[in-house]
Amino acid sequence: RTVSKIHRTGYHFQPHRNWINDPNGPMYYNGVYHLFYQYNPKGAVWGNIVWGHSVSKDLINWKELEPALYPSKPFDKYGCWSGSATVLPGKGPVILYTGVINKHSNEVQCYAIPENTSDPFLRKWIKPNAINPIIVAEHNMNGSVFRDPTTAWWSEDGHWKMLIGGRSKDRGMAYLYRSKDFVKWIRAKHPIHSAASTGMWECPDFYPVSLKGKNGLDTSVVGNRLNRVKHVLKNSLDVTRYEYYTIGTYFMNEDRYIPDNTSEDGWGGLRYDYGNFYASKSFFDPSKRRRILWSWANESDSKEDDVKKGWAGIQAIPRTVWLDSHGKQLVQWPVEELNSLREKEVKINNKKLKKGNYVEVKGITAAQADVEVTFSFSSLDKAETFDSRWVNAQDLCAQKGSKVEGGVGPFGLLTLASKNLEEFTPVFFRIFKAPNKHVVLMCSDARSSSLKRELYKPSFAGFVDVDLAHKKLSLRSLIDHSVVESFGAGGRTNILSRVYPTLAIKKNAHLFVFNNGTEHITVEKLKAWSMKSARRN
Ligand code: FRU
Repeated sequence: RTVSKIHRTGYHFQPHRNWINDPNGPMYYNGVYHLFYQYNPKGAVWGNIVWGHSVSKDLINWKELEPALYPSKPFDKYGCWSGSATVLPGKGPVILYTGVINKHSNEVQCYAIPENTSDPFLRKWIKPNAINPIIVAEHNMNGSVFRDPTTAWWSEDGHWKMLIGGRSKDRGMAYLYRSKDFVKWIRAKHPIHSAASTGMWECPDFYPVSLKGKNGLDTSVVGNRLNRVKHVLKNSLDVTRYEYYTIGTYFMNEDRYIPDNTSEDGWGGLRYDYGNFYASKSFFDPSKRRRILWSWANESDSKEDDVKKGWAGIQAIPRTVWLDSHGKQLVQWPVEELNSLREKEVKINNKKLKKGNYVEVKGITAAQADVEVTFSFSSLDKAETFDSRWVNAQDLCAQKGSKVEGGVGPFGLLTLASKNLEEFTPVFFRIFKAPNKHVVLMCSDARSSSLKRELYKPSFAGFVDVDLAHKKLSLRSLIDHSVVESFGAGGRTNILSRVYPTLAIKKNAHLFVFNNGTEHITVEKLKAWSMKSARRN
């Protein structure tokens, strides 16, 4: 079977064919980055799940290896589901993953170690019979919603600790386990945290962030006492397939995490990404002292399309993640290594855009590109009035799309556009005036992305918490055939869209800057690059 290439990504990670979902066990070990992922070796739909395995020296170019974990034991006979890696000082990596033991998706937690830690690529993994499975659900727990162990952290009380996602009735939760030897695990009396009516928490992630600067912290840094560290807890909500996170305090001795009440702890909470971004997982990269976030971006076409294409699922570009200086949200930015794929830079400086102006950015391969732009405006007086009932950004974007004339905005990029704009994916801002502040909306609107009908084409959007004192807004978009991955205001609000143009493909794709607001907008500085393809062999 051949693999359809029209919408395949040039530099977003995907294996050579077939289905992938969650990133698993990301780590840096002996100079090599490892990425594992939920993978179906037999087809382009979910099923037969093993841990695919690829390695890289730079997070961009990858070498695909044999699957690292596949069903081979009674405790993982029906699938090797998501999990994490922990590098034990002086010993090497251990993977904790979820094994599915029967057709009813009863889940247990399993332990795997490299057969040979001196193999630079850690190709073969073993699952010692004597200790596996290492954790099973107790009688009062629901063993079919008990999965996705996190990376463990070492706590000063002499234990390794880690979380497992679950739920009790409708309450989503993360169970906390502790161990002295990484083999015998004991559950803490209460979950580290839970939230009513959130449903199953898949793929929890829990890690420290520094209160100052962009450096990441090793997962084992606790440090609340020094008041230099906050913690992040992220959950992936099975019910709607999106994630939210909170920032808060980890009380190690009480085995509790308490979110700051700066954002909602539930459905309306903060999101890494307001688009297609699920089952994410972070890891600490000691070589560059940064925390890196991986995530699965599912297809938005149909199952039949996926079978025809011969592949489904990609990973978002790995993002460096850190705490914003005001401590209320995270900031993300594509890892710097991505810049090595840039070529053929083009620039636009100080270009004024009046209402209705569309200016093409020429000279790059617009279907596979990276674009960074700073827009400025001289006044916010014309900003439309914000209606306080507009709580849902996605609905607002649907109502006030890129073609709906505004005051300040809509302005931004038209990505993956066909020559005569039969197709385009606009990524744009719109600024509103509320009683004591301005509200900035960022949209990545797939509704006009393709003439093809049977596609999921949502008007993804998020609000941007940004200071407009300098009357500037910046945007970066990573365009890659069927992906538009955008970072607003330096990575404060981010949106990944999956789109499938029929005309705006390969050499027929175009890129524009536009303004549909009455206030003039200046493209103060724009740089765009053609992107080389990543090596994936
Ligand atoms: C999230 C998830 C995990 C599970 C895995 C199975 O997408 O459902 O909870 O471990 O995928 O592939």
